[in-house]
Amino acid sequence: MPEIPTGKGAGRRTDRDLKVRVKTARKRKLSSTLWLERQLNDPYVARARAEGYKSRAAFKLIELNEKYKLLRKGMRVVDLGAAPGGWSQVAAGVTGSTDEHPLIVGIDYLEMDPIPGVILLQKDFTEDDAPQMLIDALGGHRPDLVMSDMASPTTGHRATDHLRIMHLVEIAADFAIQVLNPGGAFIAKVFQGGTEHQLLHDLKRNFNSTFHAKPPSSRSNSAEAYLVAKGFKGRQEE
Ligand SMILES: C[S@@+](CC[C@H](N)C(=O)[O-])C[C@H]1O[C@@H](n2cnc3c(N)ncnc32)[C@H](O)[C@@H]1O
Repeated sequence: MPEIPTGKGAGRRTDRDLKVRVKTARKRKLSSTLWLERQLNDPYVARARAEGYKSRAAFKLIELNEKYKLLRKGMRVVDLGAAPGGWSQVAAGVTGSTDEHPLIVGIDYLEMDPIPGVILLQKDFTEDDAPQMLIDALGGHRPDLVMSDMASPTTGHRATDHLRIMHLVEIAADFAIQVLNPGGAFIAKVFQGGTEHQLLHDLKRNFNSTFHAKPPSSRSNSAEAYLVAKGFKGRQEE
């Protein structure tokens, strides 16, 4: 298997290279080296670059949309945890959102480069005023799809990571149930096997159908999966 050195020219591939291996530089941790090696060999990373997407995550939404028919022309979409912007790009493309008539609003506490047809808020979604800011950005209109790819940086401690992501999913689901148009949909990143009973119960009460999905572009060695809820009934009281 060919090896390439790090430093100048690192990561350059030739036609003969089947797999790029990266040597661990003295100052780089093994985990960073493995991440870099995975990026260099990941066909979705190459496809994202070739097709002008800001992240490989774009393909997860493309695949979820192919299977569950979530996006339509003219619909309004909220993108929670939007950076660097792959999902927002896909949503803007399918809905036909433009800067003149924006239909997509994305929020992330990270700074993002502008995306045509997308209003971006740099803000923590867990702050109290974030939900109203998102609706204001949509001109006071209710969205038809709330999608959350939010994830906190992982600690490596599975139980802690699971609790953190579930907290984000729960507030995203609460928000969706408060603001969605009837007939609308909600999708959120979760950890496989970890969806809380209460959350599923709430979603089943408020949506006609719920699914767990692992799109092909979601790395098989990651515990990540997606929760898909379709056919919002309008807020149901307990
Ligand atoms: C996996 S990335 C999203 C990738 C994105 N869907 C794309 O297509 O490019 C997860 C994002 O969630 C964001 N995030 C995590 N917690 C958040 C919070 N409380 N408020 C806003 N963004 C948050 C992170 O900053 C990170 O950018």
